[in-house]
Amino acid sequence: MICLAAAGRRSHGVRVLVLNGPNLDQLGRREPSVYGQQTLPEIEQALHATAEALGLELRCVQSNHEGALIEALHGATDCDGIVINPAGYGHTSVALRDALLIADRPTVEVHLSNLARREPFRHRTLTADVAVGTISGLGAHGYHLALHALKSLLAPATPH
Ligand code: DQA
Repeated sequence: MICLAAAGRRSHGVRVLVLNGPNLDQLGRREPSVYGQQTLPEIEQALHATAEALGLELRCVQSNHEGALIEALHGATDCDGIVINPAGYGHTSVALRDALLIADRPTVEVHLSNLARREPFRHRTLTADVAVGTISGLGAHGYHLALHALKSLLAPATPH
């Protein structure tokens, strides 16, 4: 668990890794009735605007490869928090869960669709209990809510 007192003394701004898993590069054309019309670059562009308003620095990474996602988590030593949509790997990947534990950063898990309304194999993720919380079913808005949540976790308002 990150020490928030030490986080207050960090030399850079509050930096968040936004990690998107397999097939999310196909948003826009991928089952739009489930995942919406927005492409991932459009979502990431909007997230940069939210991050700027919140005073957060963003690093956005997407990969269709489990090992690349794991390595992005290994490389998150310079990040203070993580937003992850593990996509299909959330349901299957012990290795991704292990990498989140190694990263040891406050993490918010996001799913565009409402997993509870979908097939039983999507009801559980191996990563959810490593995260501080999960946002599921609110579409791309979920990523913005996740940034707000990390902002208040990582840079709580200082009393006047
Ligand atoms: C998803 C849900 C997963 O079950 C699915 O495999 C995805 C996307 C979502 O954002 O709703 O790829 O993570």
